[in-house]
Amino acid sequence: MIRLNKYMADCGVDSRRNCDKIITENRVRVNRKLINELGFMINEDNDTVTVDGKKITPKNKNVYLMLHKPKGYVTTVKDDKDRKTVMELIDIKSRVYPVGRLDYDTEGLLLLTNDGDMTYKLTHPKYEVTKKYIARIEGEISESELTTLRNGVIIDGKKTAPAKAKLLEKTDKECRVELTIHEGKNHQVKKMFETIGKTVVFLKRTEMGDIRLGGLARGQWRYLNDKEIDYLKSIK
Ligand code: URA
Repeated sequence: MIRLNKYMADCGVDSRRNCDKIITENRVRVNRKLINELGFMINEDNDTVTVDGKKITPKNKNVYLMLHKPKGYVTTVKDDKDRKTVMELIDIKSRVYPVGRLDYDTEGLLLLTNDGDMTYKLTHPKYEVTKKYIARIEGEISESELTTLRNGVIIDGKKTAPAKAKLLEKTDKECRVELTIHEGKNHQVKKMFETIGKTVVFLKRTEMGDIRLGGLARGQWRYLNDKEIDYLKSIK
């Protein structure tokens, strides 16, 4: 539910204050009923609002959300192999698209938006937005191997940019490593570990820039809050 004057402003009718004036001038109808009450609330998904008899619709409002992607989903809108897509987990009317890719078997933070400029900023390496991953790898990893990852390794014929790599935990069979990169080459994390002879058995993205997955449950999504959106808009 939102206030009628805000909805009208979102539709580009005028400022909220001027919309109030328009409302008191008996020029606004909600579902054909004349409304001249300030503070009237509408359901923006179902109600039809007219001003001077013309239906108004929101200007392409930008929508930003995060999903905790589970493994077993592709991050495309449609899959040619008929696998499940992340879109099946998001039940909203607006058309949003995944920002970048996560592999079928990778889980964690996936942003979705209808803001194409924002998608460009978040995925183009020149903006250097960091992406933090937690990788579980088979066997051990030495400090010098971590340094190799930090300094950059050659994947697909090109050296990766400096990264941060930190050993989080070591068990008999596996290690948990936090890797922070700011590029987004295809399968970059798995390939980086491959160059030092390690196999990634589990991969999760936990952060993109200042946006953190936090405690969002696997398979759940939420809208970004104002602070997170302000951060995204500040990326230059
Ligand atoms: N790097 C990978 O190898 N896979 C992902 O899904 C993301 C980054």
